[in-house]
Amino acid sequence: MTTMMSYREFTVKDYDAACAVWTAAGREIVPLAELTYRPSLVLVADDGDSLAGVVMGTFDGRRGMILRLAVHPARRRQGIARGLVGELETRFRAIGCPRVNLLVMPDNDAGLRFWQELGYLPAPDVLCTKPLSPSQ
Ligand SMILES: CC(C)(COP(=O)(O)OP(=O)(O)OC[C@H]1O[C@@H](n2cnc3c(N)ncnc32)[C@H](O)[C@@H]1OP(=O)(O)O)[C@@H](O)C(=O)NCCC(=O)NCCS
Repeated sequence: MTTMMSYREFTVKDYDAACAVWTAAGREIVPLAELTYRPSLVLVADDGDSLAGVVMGTFDGRRGMILRLAVHPARRRQGIARGLVGELETRFRAIGCPRVNLLVMPDNDAGLRFWQELGYLPAPDVLCTKPLSPSQ
């Protein structure tokens, strides 16, 4: 049986299932408050029975950012991440976002290959960061 994948907006009811995808993919979960801050850019891949993938976008008025893309390990290489990012790009364009950035950990070869396949190319910028709270 072929199931139809829908790439739709995250809702609060999806939170446990989205956390299960991040955990299965070895990624940190995102606090619910961050996901509901701008919900139209937080997307899930839903086959009607379960969530297969999740991604979070943010827009600061100038640049878009893609964070925490993950597909469940049992559901990979089926175009699910491509579908999630495609829907997110459509939404970025709709809100006037002209460029999207993202970060890939240096040891994540598969992740980098995925992003390059979709046209996201490494940039020479160096990320500088400073915690403003002791827990960060
Ligand atoms: C990276 C990740 C999101 C890809 O999800 P996916 O649904 O399997 O990706 P897709 O099926 O949409 O892949 C699209 C294309 O990207 C490339 N690609 C995807 N995974 C790849 C891998 N492991 N190695 C090489 N190329 C890969 C391929 O060209 C693929 O097309 P093909 O299957 O027709 O060859 C998934 O492996 C994952 O969740 N990894 C752990 C978390 C992570 O690394 N997140 C992203 C980094 S910030």
